[in-house]
Amino acid sequence: MHSANLLAVLLASTSAQAASSLSNFDRPNLSRRQATTPTPPQAGAANANGYIAPPAAPLLAPPAILASMAAGVAGAAASAVTAAVPGAPPGFPPGPPPGVPAIIPGVPEPAPSPGAAPPGVSPDPNAADPNAEENKRKPRPGKPPGGPPGGPPQGKCPAVWTEVSKELSKQFMESGQCNDLARGAIRAAFHDCGAWEMGLGKTAGCDGSLILAKEEITRQENSGLVDIIPKLAAIGKKFDVGMADFIQFAGASAVKICPLGPTVQTWVGRKDSSTPNPENLLPNPRSDGDTLVQLFQNKGINPAELVALIGAHTSAKQMAFDPSKAGAPLDSSPGVWDVKFYGETIKKQAPFTLPSDIELSKQKDSAPVFKSFVNNQMGWGAAFAPAMTKLGLLGVEKEGLIDCTYALPTGAQGYRRAAVKRRWW
Ligand code: HEM
Repeated sequence: MHSANLLAVLLASTSAQAASSLSNFDRPNLSRRQATTPTPPQAGAANANGYIAPPAAPLLAPPAILASMAAGVAGAAASAVTAAVPGAPPGFPPGPPPGVPAIIPGVPEPAPSPGAAPPGVSPDPNAADPNAEENKRKPRPGKPPGGPPGGPPQGKCPAVWTEVSKELSKQFMESGQCNDLARGAIRAAFHDCGAWEMGLGKTAGCDGSLILAKEEITRQENSGLVDIIPKLAAIGKKFDVGMADFIQFAGASAVKICPLGPTVQTWVGRKDSSTPNPENLLPNPRSDGDTLVQLFQNKGINPAELVALIGAHTSAKQMAFDPSKAGAPLDSSPGVWDVKFYGETIKKQAPFTLPSDIELSKQKDSAPVFKSFVNNQMGWGAAFAPAMTKLGLLGVEKEGLIDCTYALPTGAQGYRRAAVKRRWW
């Protein structure tokens, strides 16, 4: 389909979904301190969160809480649909069409910085690192101000993030590929922010509560992160940085350390919170495609952005979803940030595939984008990075944020150079 037509279809379907009833969509109570009554999972059966319960599983699953919130959905749907850019699939944007707000409430649109890709487009993962010159400087004191539009003058990225970056480079890479801690950090970045929807405004979301609120990690929706969280927390504490910022910085670092990983524009300055985020705002791997798309629409994330984000499963292994196959990767190269995930999911050739990924490869709004990323490394890289930046700012007050993008590790760049050398010599 011509990209303009596809964009029109996306726009129409997105708006229609926003306007439609949420009646078939189980939604949680929005209270930040809701009482939860654990429901025991049945051994061998998929429980309320879609995970297969091991025989001795603890009682973690919450009750289904049905209070729903529709306010702001239409606004987010409109803001989520934007014009296409070269190399990116339909639905990915430099900016919204005329008359459509560029940002959703509480989510700053990152400002461009010299040498960076155009707004909304990540650097070509195969191109030379646009930050290479800056990365060479030691110490790296912080990029010139380039904070979110409408915010106050921005400060420089504190030098501690360069130290954090060095540490993560050591801990996230093994044999030139990203390791289990790195993939856990990427998922943690999603799970800290993803427990948010628009009605929550500037509460919950990316607030560090995945680590700071002890309860969150006991939830079934965070299964598989239990071993990773204390390790990440220890690194964040060692450098005495904010946990909300650390989780996002670690996630973006992990993406970049995976060979072929793009640069995700990364801000610091979030507020930490030890109040647990509401439960059931994270996706259930057994939900149908429409439910998943709607869940993300309610966060201001459109189907195209969701499909780009789900590509993070290129680096994923499942541990808790089906414990009988613990360690099974979701594509054949989990240490590399490539696009094999998309093709292998569609063709059912991946070592393990989550039902939710199959659903998104078929759902009417997400399927065209899913297909567009098959064998399209550049298009996916261009789409993933801005979507990840957006995810990393859900629920965050934009005032005072500082751009620390160029303090991210350069691991993947080094890997590519080394790989080229090996091939020639
Ligand atoms: C429809 C949305 C999504 C669903 C249903 C989903 C579900 C899951 C499930 C069930 C696992 C396996 C957990 C385990 O058994 O240990 C997993 C792993 C993972 N997910 Fe997702 N996910 C979604 C979106 C995302 C997004 C948006 C990201 C990041 C941007 C992400 C990153 C990861 C990563 C990196 C892993 C591997 C973690 C590890 O190997 O330790 N996922 N996801």
